[in-house]
Order: sequence, then C-alpha cells, then structure tokens
Amino acid sequence: MSQTNAVITGIGAYTPEYRLTNDELSRMVDTNDEWIMTRVGIKERRIQKDEKAASDMGVEAVRDLVRKTGLNLDEVDLLVCTTVTGDAPVPSTAAIICGKLDMHKALAFDINGACSGFLYGLDLVSQYIKAGSKKKIILVSTEKMSSIVDYTDRTTCVLFGDAATAVLVEPTSENVGVMDADLHADGFGREWLKVPAGGSAMPASHETVEGHKHFIYQEGKQVFRYAVTYMADATVEVMKRNNLTAADVAWLVPHQANLRIISATAERMELPADKVMINIERYGNTTSATIPLCLYEWEKQLKKGDNLILAAFGAGFTWGTMYIKWGY
Ligand code: UT7
Repeated sequence: MSQTNAVITGIGAYTPEYRLTNDELSRMVDTNDEWIMTRVGIKERRIQKDEKAASDMGVEAVRDLVRKTGLNLDEVDLLVCTTVTGDAPVPSTAAIICGKLDMHKALAFDINGACSGFLYGLDLVSQYIKAGSKKKIILVSTEKMSSIVDYTDRTTCVLFGDAATAVLVEPTSENVGVMDADLHADGFGREWLKVPAGGSAMPASHETVEGHKHFIYQEGKQVFRYAVTYMADATVEVMKRNNLTAADVAWLVPHQANLRIISATAERMELPADKVMINIERYGNTTSATIPLCLYEWEKQLKKGDNLILAAFGAGFTWGTMYIKWGY
C-alpha cells in the first residue's frame, strides 16, 4: 500500500502597500539605516496603515490562493490560522476568516507557535492528511505586527512588519511533501520575548496601557544567543537523520529575524549563500509569515522534488526544522 504524504499545492500572499523605511524610522526614534542594516539586515517593512485586522489580511491571502489555484472554498475541510496578532482573544481568527469568506464546512482554529508558527501549523495539518481525515487544508499565517509594536521603542520597532500568507495542503501518494519535522518548545525564554499584558496573567488595566505593556518586549541579545544555536542544531539534526548533505539541499528557507542568524545557520549547514531564501531586507520579521512568504516569492524557481529545509526560532522559546520535498 502506498503511503499518503502531505504536500503544499499552492501559495497565496498579501502584503500591505505602505513601506516603512529605515529613514522614516530614524525620524521617529534614535536609530539609523547603518545600525539596522549591519545588525539586522532590514531596509523596509510593510505596514497595514488602516483598520484592517489580521483576519482581513488573511482573507486577502486566501483570495490570492483561490485566484492562483482555482480552489473551491466549499471543498476545504480544515482552516488553521497561525498568528500572534489575532483579531481578538475570542473568537478565533480562523473562524473569523471562515465567516468573511462565507465558508461553512471547514473545521477552523488558531495556533500560536510565535515565529515557529508556520512550521507548527504545517506539521499539524500534515498529520490530519496522513491520518486520512482531511483532504483540503488551508494554512493561513497572518501577522499584523504593527498592532503590537511600540513605535517609541527603538529596540523592537525597527524589526517587525506585517504580512499574510495562505498555503493549500493536500494528500499525495507521490514521494513529495512533508518528509520530516523536528519541532520544540521549552518555555525557557518566555521572559525575553513577550507581550506582557492582555492575557490572564496581566489583564488590561489603565496601568498596563500607560506602562506600554500591550506591546512586544524583547531582550534581543539573549534571544539572539539561543536562536543562533537552536536553529542551526535542529537543522543539522534533520539533515543528519535524513542522510542529507549540503549538496542535496536545494534551498534553506529560514525564519527572517536577523540576517546574522540566517547566515550562521547556513554556515553550520555548509550551504552556499545562493541556496538561502532571504527577503528580510524588504519585509523585516513578519513572525509566522516569514517562511511561507519566502516560498511565495521563490515559487517560480522551485522544482518538483527539490529538497527544502525550513528552519525557525521564536518566542517561548519555540524552534525547529522541517524537511520538505517540493511538490510542483
Ligand atoms: O523572531 C523571533 C526571534 N527573535 C530573534 O531572533 C531576534 C534576536 N535578536 C536580534 O536579532 C538582535 O539581538 C537585535 C537585532 C534585536 C539587536 O542586535 P544586537 O546586536 O543584539 O544589539 P543590542 O541589543 O546588544 O544593542 C547594541 C546597542 C545598544 O547600545 P549600547 O547599550 O551598546 O550603548 C542598544 O541600545 O545598540 C543599541 N540599539 C540601537 N541603536 C540604534 C538597540 N536598538 C537600536 C536601534 N538603533 N534600533
């Protein structure tokens, strides 16, 4: 009996039009293009300037996916949304997206794996496919990071941008799709990258608003230290257990938090720079949307059977690596 694999069969994306440049940021806080480019590698990020929420951005990405693939939304039986900037704590952004797209059949829910969210989501939906219980799944990754960024805090406001993606995942009997996943969470770094208030630990109050506690807070140096090690370790582990050498890998698709973290991971893999997808310069860190946004932008260069290594690290900490064989 042939084995069922889960494979990505299409990608849609949405990025807001407004480009927040380093020059504009340097007029808002004490920063400059040289610092941002040498320390992080970002030139500009997209910002959703109007009242559009994460669900609206996700809806646009799904519409793009439908345009590109001809997908009939009535046939979708699961929609999973990865986000740290959901419209509200309740209901789920996945349910709101279904409502806005007039979808009635699909099971839908959110997951929060922070910057590792896309990998968590792809691993999860691939289990539904392999179990045979779902046939057409949309994995939406939508982040309106500008809604939780404090534009008076130079240590975080230069880093993040807004974006949404939607990937279609389906079953296949071919030897393509999700091959392996090595995903983790340890909670060890939970104090170093967080939004302190707005949940049950610190409900919203006048004090939390005045204290800027609803914005993202990061101790960058600590996070950087672990990101470099954990992302590279997981990547090398996945390559090893699948007998992959750098020559077998067509692309590294890394989370786009810092160009230095990406380079360190590629170096540990002994992978040349031209096999690494990098678009951090134009979008910054869009949290769970970074990896699928790379896939979207490189889609035309990908060939069926290409070995891709997807690697992420984020708040929690959460981190991990997936090995996929491109399916079209
Ligand atoms: O995606 C989720 C996971 N997140 C990550 O992987 C991010 C990991 N961390 C990083 O990428 C880096 O730590 C940052 C890019 C956030 C910061 O880079 P860094 O090289 O670690 O800088 P730092 O925080 O150690 O700050 C160095 C200096 C400090 O000044 P002093 O204390 O040396 O005088 C900061 O105050 O740079 C200063 N600084 C800035 N200067 C100009 C911090 N932010 C800025 C800024 N512009 N925007």
